[in-house]
Amino acid sequence: MKLLSVENIVKEYKIPGHKPIRILNDISFEVNEGEHVAIVGRSGAGKTTLLNILGGLDKPNSGDVKIAGVSLYKGFGAERRRNMIRATKVGFVFQSYHLMPELDIVENVILPTMTGYEKILNPRKRAKELLEKVGLGERLGHLPTELSGGEQQRVALARALICSPDIIFADEPTGNLDSSTGTEIMKLLFEINEKPLALVMVTHSSDAANMCDRVLVLDSTSITER
Ligand SMILES: Nc1ncnc2c1ncn2[C@@H]1O[C@H](COP(=O)(O)OP(=O)(O)O)[C@@H](O)[C@H]1O
Ligand SMILES: [Mg+2]
Repeated sequence: MKLLSVENIVKEYKIPGHKPIRILNDISFEVNEGEHVAIVGRSGAGKTTLLNILGGLDKPNSGDVKIAGVSLYKGFGAERRRNMIRATKVGFVFQSYHLMPELDIVENVILPTMTGYEKILNPRKRAKELLEKVGLGERLGHLPTELSGGEQQRVALARALICSPDIIFADEPTGNLDSSTGTEIMKLLFEINEKPLALVMVTHSSDAANMCDRVLVLDSTSITER
C-alpha cells in the first residue's frame, strides 16, 4: 500500500539581487508502507530541502506531497492538514540531534506529544519505555549535554517514535557519529518497528544505504532509482 506520494516538486530560492536558483525540479516518487528508502547525492544536491518538504517543514513552489492520502500543500486548509500529519504520522531525526538542552531526556521525548493533535494517555510512561528500548533506561533524569553523540541520537529516535508515526524522515542520522556508533543507531532505527514503519533517510554511508529496500539518487533536476 502506498504511504508517501511525491508529486512534481519544484523548489526555488530567491535571494534579493540574484536570479532565483532552482534547487529541485519536478521531483516525483512514491514510498510504500513499511518501505525503507535511502536518498543519496552530492552535497548541495537538495537532499535536506527535499526531506523538509516531504515532512511538511518547508513549502515547495509547486507540486504536492501526500501522506496516507492527505495532501500537505494543495487546497483549502493545507496548513492545518500539514500540522496534523506532522504531529500524528511523521517522525524526524536530524544529523545534529536537535534536542532541547535545558530539558532532560524524558521531557525531550515527550515534546512532540504537546501539539494537541495526538492523545497519548500517559506520555511520560511511554517516553520512559521508549528510552528503555533504545538503551537509556538508566539515564532518564539526564540532560542531553551529559550524553555522548550516539546516546543523544538514541534520544532523538525515541522522540521521533513517541507519537507512533507511519514514516520517519532522517537527515544523515549517522553523519556526526563514528562508524560503529552509526551502525548501532541504524540497527535501532530498523529494529524498533512497533508497527510497519517506513523510512526515508538521507545518508552518505553506503552501509546505511545498503540496509534499505531502495536507493534513490538525487541530482536536483532528477531523482533516479539506483
Ligand atoms: N534558505 C536558503 N536560501 C537560499 N538557498 C538555500 C537555502 N537553503 C538551501 N539553499 C541552497 O539549496 C541547495 C541545496 O541545499 P541542501 O538541500 O541543504 O542540500 P544537501 O542537503 O543535498 O547538501 C544548496 O545550494 C543551498 O545553498
Ligand atoms: Mg543536507
